[in-house]
Amino acid sequence: MSQNSWAQAVDVQETTALSVQLDSSKKVQGLYGGRYTRGDVNANIVLEKKENGGRTKDGDSVDPAEQSLLYKLIRRSLVRNRNQVEVLQRDPTSPLYSVKTFEELRLKPELLKGVYNMGFNRPSRIQENALPMMLAQPPQNLIAQAQSGTGKTAAFSLAMLSHVDPANKWTQCLCIAPTYELALQIGHVIEQMGTFYPDVQLAYAIRGNRMERGIKLQQQIVIGTPGTVLDWCTKFKHIDPKKITMFVLDEADVMIATQGHRDQSFRIHRQLPKDCQMLLFSATFEDSVWKFAEKVVPDPNIIKLNREEETLDTIKQFYVVCKQEEDKFIALCNLYGCLTIAQAMIFCHTRRMAAWLAANLTQEGHQVALLSGEMTVEQRAAVIERFRDGKEKVLVTTNVCSRGIDVEQVSLVVNFDLPVDINGNAHNETYLHRIGRTGRFGRKGFAVNMVDSEHSMDIIHQIEMHFNRKIIEIDTSNLEEMEKLFS
Ligand SMILES: Nc1ncnc2c1ncn2[C@@H]1O[C@H](COP(=O)(O)OP(=O)(O)O)[C@@H](O)[C@H]1O
Ligand SMILES: [Mg+2]
Repeated sequence: MSQNSWAQAVDVQETTALSVQLDSSKKVQGLYGGRYTRGDVNANIVLEKKENGGRTKDGDSVDPAEQSLLYKLIRRSLVRNRNQVEVLQRDPTSPLYSVKTFEELRLKPELLKGVYNMGFNRPSRIQENALPMMLAQPPQNLIAQAQSGTGKTAAFSLAMLSHVDPANKWTQCLCIAPTYELALQIGHVIEQMGTFYPDVQLAYAIRGNRMERGIKLQQQIVIGTPGTVLDWCTKFKHIDPKKITMFVLDEADVMIATQGHRDQSFRIHRQLPKDCQMLLFSATFEDSVWKFAEKVVPDPNIIKLNREEETLDTIKQFYVVCKQEEDKFIALCNLYGCLTIAQAMIFCHTRRMAAWLAANLTQEGHQVALLSGEMTVEQRAAVIERFRDGKEKVLVTTNVCSRGIDVEQVSLVVNFDLPVDINGNAHNETYLHRIGRTGRFGRKGFAVNMVDSEHSMDIIHQIEMHFNRKIIEIDTSNLEEMEKLFS
């Protein structure tokens, strides 16, 4: 599923959300180091009616740029993906090159050293094909799509460094990214990779960086956000767009989801020479991204790497019937109490519900981490990191960020609130994302769904039908039965 439809689903879910009235005088130990205010444990739960189509002070909305930055911050290595790379060549008769080693690329020794210094031993799946294409002479345009963490940014960083002529003291490569933070992240990769290639210099065209009008940059590579890059090309004339020979557009899906960025990108693009090499990268590829890509990248080679399918095959699925909201908490405690579980993730509809639940679980003596939308991306990354390191055993979260977490190590997923769509029907994709795994690990997992109304029972049936998998009822007060089922 695309990140966009994911975001919509999340927005909508939270339109009729439960919220908890917080007593801000009480403080609960912060879960990412500092102390911050959390809810009163015995807070009143009130049903709050939402206006204005979904975005509320409680609702966690997913911002694609933030999500992307989060992935970057928590990523330690390449994502596993064993799918075949699909390649569509502009000229199908020309030979298709792919490389298994960085040596085969005949890089400058300074760059090869930089690559190895980053701990890269061999090209990633997508790099095997993308690198020879980007380095080929004469230059070829490329559109590449693969999920976050597959090595796209590292690939074009290497291509840019390899492309420029360090003897020429003007900007030759231009790269745009959707946000300030993402531009900085890309810049760091280029800087790291170029450690042993000091003749090549990098400039950041981001807000806050100012120079006198008319001063030409000497840096061969410029990375920035569309607005500032456009200003530097037109208004301030720091860059001569006619001298750009490689143009890179990263995170195209996030770019066009950001107000104004699509048009600014076009305006930059229009000033570039016709024979400038155009490269575009995206994690997802729905129609809108395609339309954009086709306009920006003429006669492209196209590379696609599909995300590995998640499956429910290795998951045992259960549901617990609870009379009302409060019983769900008791069921959860029973459940957790009788299991020897490595780690658990608990999903709630709203950040207030998540905060309330986290506070209550903490009160019960559990080590709980809370992840929700009001945290900065950096704070969220820190929480995820702590959870991954096993510093907390339970993670309570709304839908926000849940995809950034490698659930392979999580043996229990609890849907404290079931995932529903705009019409209150089961949101099957979200369900799969929460509990599904890529299946190759063979590690068993358990999913427990809290059912608190006829409507939510109905949702369980919809999910069963959709995936053609039985979801079994359990009685969390029956310890013996529980032990049998979870063994
Ligand atoms: N060939 C490689 N070998 C090992 N690690 C790599 C390789 N290429 C990239 N990485 C690492 O994998 C992670 C994801 O790479 P990145 O280029 O940011 O992917 P993407 O742009 O597709 O999200 C980063 O931590 C990066 O340092
Ligand atoms: Mg990237």
